Amino acid sequence: MLTVEDLTVAFGPTTAVRGVTLHAAPGTVTGILGANGAGKSTTLLGIHGRVPRSSGRIVLDGQDVTGHDTRALVRAGLALCPENRRLFPGLTIEDNLLVGAHGQGRKVRRQRLRGIYDRFGWVHARRAEPAGRLSGGQQQTVAIARALMSDPRLVLLDEPSSGLSPVAVDEVGEALRDIARAGTAVLLVEQNVRLVRQLCSTAWVIAHGEITAHGTVAELFAAGAVSDAYLGKATVPPDSGS
Ligand SMILES: Nc1ncnc2c1ncn2[C@@H]1O[C@H](COP(=O)(O)OP(=O)(O)OP(=O)(O)O)[C@@H](O)[C@H]1O
Ligand SMILES: [Mg+2]
Repeated sequence: MLTVEDLTVAFGPTTAVRGVTLHAAPGTVTGILGANGAGKSTTLLGIHGRVPRSSGRIVLDGQDVTGHDTRALVRAGLALCPENRRLFPGLTIEDNLLVGAHGQGRKVRRQRLRGIYDRFGWVHARRAEPAGRLSGGQQQTVAIARALMSDPRLVLLDEPSSGLSPVAVDEVGEALRDIARAGTAVLLVEQNVRLVRQLCSTAWVIAHGEITAHGTVAELFAAGAVSDAYLGKATVPPDSGS
């Protein structure tokens, strides 16, 4: 279980995230929904210690990990799959995966690779190819697999469906469902409403850096909170960007 309390992140005079409190439970996919610029990515980066926080407490399975740097957070079980993938295109698929298990012994790394290859057969078949040769959807799958190489208890995912074809979105969705079924908590930032409806049990709605609603996805849609988040308070129309 992840608990984030009172997370605030400012970039100079701009407070991108203000007093965000949220939870994500094991075995479920929890959504973070909101318009472009609402503070979704900054929330994930703040949780993962990639941007300086002005306030905030991060607790993972009862362990306070607030002071941990990114490497220690990964060791504690918190993995981040950032926006726009970020595979190393010149490295092989396997070497990209191994980056996710950095610092582990050879035996553990081999074990985890085997787990990934069992789950994604085509990744095994193409493991020696440069990652840059994969399609967008395939690269996203490898990026998710790389996050899994740290054997996380919680995965933070930032818009995994961005730029993918409907078929590739379904593949990514299937992979995320499997990950949650295996007992991992997934915290998902996603603008693809269909994917949110399919995957997320509950979601947090964020607007202008603050949480404005929380509930089951069905409740949020029924209450209009989701359309408010995407349309009503958007500074940029949601179909003009990612
Ligand atoms: N490194 C940065 N320096 C300055 N401002 C930033 C930085 N990163 C984000 N911001 C600002 O913080 C606010 C929230 O940005 P963030 O990237 O978290 O939004 P988002 O909800 O992920 O949007 P999108 O849906 O477009 O990805 C925006 O106003 C953005 O301009
Ligand atoms: Mg973002």
